[in-house]
Amino acid sequence: MHAHGSSPASRPAAPPRAQAGLARARILGTGAFLPPFVRTNRDLERLVDTSDAWITERTGIRERRLAPEGTTTSDMGAIAALAALDMAGLRATDLDLIVVATVTPDMPMPSAAALVQHKIGAGPCPAFDIGAACAGFIFALTVAEQFIRTGKRHRVLVVGGDTLTKFLDWTDRKTCILFGDGAGAVVLGSDVAVDAQDRPRGVLSTSLSTDGSLVPALYIPGGGSAHPPSAATVEGRLHFIRMNGQEIFKHAIKNLVSASHAALDDAGMTTAGIDWVCAHQANKRILDQVAIRLGTAPDRMLSNIDRVGNTSSASIPILLDESVRAGKIKDGDTVLMSALGAGVSWGGAVVRM
Ligand code: UT7
Repeated sequence: MHAHGSSPASRPAAPPRAQAGLARARILGTGAFLPPFVRTNRDLERLVDTSDAWITERTGIRERRLAPEGTTTSDMGAIAALAALDMAGLRATDLDLIVVATVTPDMPMPSAAALVQHKIGAGPCPAFDIGAACAGFIFALTVAEQFIRTGKRHRVLVVGGDTLTKFLDWTDRKTCILFGDGAGAVVLGSDVAVDAQDRPRGVLSTSLSTDGSLVPALYIPGGGSAHPPSAATVEGRLHFIRMNGQEIFKHAIKNLVSASHAALDDAGMTTAGIDWVCAHQANKRILDQVAIRLGTAPDRMLSNIDRVGNTSSASIPILLDESVRAGKIKDGDTVLMSALGAGVSWGGAVVRM
């Protein structure tokens, strides 16, 4: 999207205004990866008591992708990252920070970010994970852009990747129909540029929130320090997602709207100034309600839920990348992002490309 080539020898120096704290984090490139294996609603009809008609009508999902055995979150994240670097015209060695949003890292330690760093040939540079489930990408974007705003870092990779289908109970029709696997990435650069209309570009604002009293609405009980892995936790199916769909549905509509308004207010904007809404793809009915409450025209709501389902923290960066590569989102367009997931955590962001 924007060519910012540089070699290790010319590792980016802080632009003077960045040191004065005026830099913004601009998206220099986007990338995504979806595993090739497709599971359709018809396939699910053979696994649980459901129907293509019910899933399509109640969720908008027609098919989703599954990471095969042996394919990990960091594998997918690394491919998405290389695509984003390529679009940015940068090399992995140009990166000075890597943040990966995931709740399904390859293993409890080290971070998926450390594995992504190694797989793409980056570093040494700090690399760490952020866990905010389906809201993870907004949390990671916020952390990354703070590093850029303060002038501490200048070329940051943000990845959102999850393999939640490995944590689904394929006998539970209330959850197994919803999720898919994938990864998306953005490369952020510190930038003081303005667009053709003299407007600032990059991450203009973000808004984050968590309400821990809602933990029981969506969680994986086993595998952590509360219930370390054992034969009993496997027997008790504690490693699978448990969700109160109706409760999450209600909070999603309310908080995707409130996070959007908070981010818009912080940017000094209203929905009238937004070209595209790139919201977490959890359920088409949630997206329709959010559009109505924000007063956004349906054709401004980006969506790929029919093809990918809910890909958790990969949802926004995959949709962003597809929309950029399809030529829908163009340079200078203003994008409103919002997401909600387990925690319950939610967030919003306004980004000018
Ligand atoms: O990223 C954040 C993570 N999650 C979400 O955002 C999910 C938010 N929630 C949702 O998307 C929806 O609540 C679901 C899609 C999970 C469920 O849709 P719903 O309209 O809220 O259904 P429900 O749970 O109220 O269930 C209605 C009926 C029930 O049957 P009875 O009790 O009325 O006989 C369910 O057993 O639909 C039944 N049902 C199904 N039927 C066919 C639930 N799942 C299925 C299914 N196929 N897959």
